[in-house]
Amino acid sequence: MPIIALRPDKARKATSQCRKPAGWFGQLTLWSMNRRHSKLTDWGLQQVSIGPSDAILDVGCGGGRTVAKLAARAAAGRVHGVDFAPASVVVSRRTNRQAVEAGRVAIEEASVSALPFAPDTFDLVTAIETHFWWQSLGDGAREILRVLKPGGTFVIVAEFYNGGRHARYAERLGRITGMTALDVAQHRAMFTDAGFADVRTVEDAGRGWICGIGTKPTR
Ligand SMILES: C[S@@+](CC[C@H](N)C(=O)[O-])C[C@H]1O[C@@H](n2cnc3c(N)ncnc32)[C@H](O)[C@@H]1O
Repeated sequence: MPIIALRPDKARKATSQCRKPAGWFGQLTLWSMNRRHSKLTDWGLQQVSIGPSDAILDVGCGGGRTVAKLAARAAAGRVHGVDFAPASVVVSRRTNRQAVEAGRVAIEEASVSALPFAPDTFDLVTAIETHFWWQSLGDGAREILRVLKPGGTFVIVAEFYNGGRHARYAERLGRITGMTALDVAQHRAMFTDAGFADVRTVEDAGRGWICGIGTKPTR
């Protein structure tokens, strides 16, 4: 994780491209994240069930590789990606060009706090390496609860958390950039406070990864 070795001003600049990618450097960062987050994403997606006909939303879709993975798993379903950065929308659409043209995938510019979907739309919502950048975790989680179908699942995945193997990195990044690194209890609280049921976290202690999962109550 080389960013921790950077001077605070350089670290802030580099991480601003993770928070909201822009311009050519942003596009480069998005291609790089597509590669770097692939194993983490595979691990996170293993923690939930994905049906072949599921309607799925990936929030903070970045360069779109998670959308591609989801579209491959839900081969008879439909996958949406949203991101509030125009550069992410461009790269995500490019990554998923064939599926977008086939009408199986759609990528839109939108914030997690104001999702352009009707209530009870999705079976699964995923958020990989993005929640710590949201302006309001509570607003984002409640908005995701709104668009999930009753019984639908929300999963967040992150490569570090307070109290985990990369806690020092998370703490320093938080101090420099203002990102919100949560501990395990705070991950659970984010779900329960928003109204999710069956909340659980899964940790890969060796790699320092965490995944939080919650279900929209059926009534
Ligand atoms: C570190 S990148 C991760 C991208 C992708 N999920 C991945 O795993 O490679 C974080 C992404 O979340 C997006 N993002 C941050 N805050 C957001 C918000 N409030 N609403 C929607 N997208 C957001 C950023 O624009 C960026 O593309």
